Amino acid sequence: MTTQPEHGHGREKEVVISGRGITVGFGDRLILENLDINVYRGEILGVVGASGTGKSVLLRTILGLQKKRAGSVEILGVPYDDADPDTRASIDRRLGVLFQQGALFSSLTVLQNVEFPMREHLRLSPRLMEELARLKIELVGLAPEAADRMPSELSGGMIKRASLARALAMDPAIVFLDEPTSGLDPIGAAEFDELIATLRDTLGLTVFMVTHDLDSLYTVCDRIAVLGDRHVLIEGTIDDLLAFDHPWVQKYFRGVRARRLESEV
Ligand SMILES: Nc1ncnc2c1ncn2[C@@H]1O[C@H](COP(=O)(O)OP(=O)(O)OP(=O)(O)O)[C@@H](O)[C@H]1O
Ligand SMILES: [Mg+2]
Repeated sequence: MTTQPEHGHGREKEVVISGRGITVGFGDRLILENLDINVYRGEILGVVGASGTGKSVLLRTILGLQKKRAGSVEILGVPYDDADPDTRASIDRRLGVLFQQGALFSSLTVLQNVEFPMREHLRLSPRLMEELARLKIELVGLAPEAADRMPSELSGGMIKRASLARALAMDPAIVFLDEPTSGLDPIGAAEFDELIATLRDTLGLTVFMVTHDLDSLYTVCDRIAVLGDRHVLIEGTIDDLLAFDHPWVQKYFRGVRARRLESEV
């Protein structure tokens, strides 16, 4: 598996997702061009960039849901895009996804939604599957009664949690979250961030999180990748980004700088 020396330490960090030379276009419009990205084991990577820069396209490309024109994607040490169907399926089982749109199947209860990936990938008795699904529902902080509700009967925050429960159904090693806190009030968003951080700490998850939320970036992300000009402009800690001389990055993170100064007073 690919490893890279961690800056300033002797320890090696394990790369669990490696994208190289990724190029994606629609018609004659290139969205991503020769993009490189690394995600390290156990980190929460925040992915930011102006609306329309291709964050969701990148997420879908890494997962093989979006065709690319060039480049390669390695997940958990396996050349994912080149893998045979069986190898791919074995990797897929270790990935959980919370998409930006259409988080839950509207015709299924929360419980049935969480059971859905298990039905697809595992051969388990209905009773065991239900038990495991109820466990996930509890894990994300939903009340047991929520299991039998329909998505239309849930608040926005509950839908996010239920979607997260479904993303965690297969005990993934890596979860992909696309704007998980959008539409939540600041307290709901902060609680969701806390949940993500707790799950990372307790389950050892690696998190790839697309977000616009500066608070999320500041409080839970270990590193941030900034998308712009069709590639990753910079990947690093908040401090690396604050020191990075690029107009969009400077403008975007000015809020973080202000927060940092406040907390230092
Ligand atoms: N299937 C598609 N066909 C054509 N164009 C597409 C398709 N999917 C995405 N695009 C275009 O690719 C660009 C990037 O889209 P994407 O959804 O990745 O943006 P984003 O960075 O996630 O934005 P946001 O922050 O608003 O979610 C947009 O211009 C979008 O219109
Ligand atoms: Mg998007």
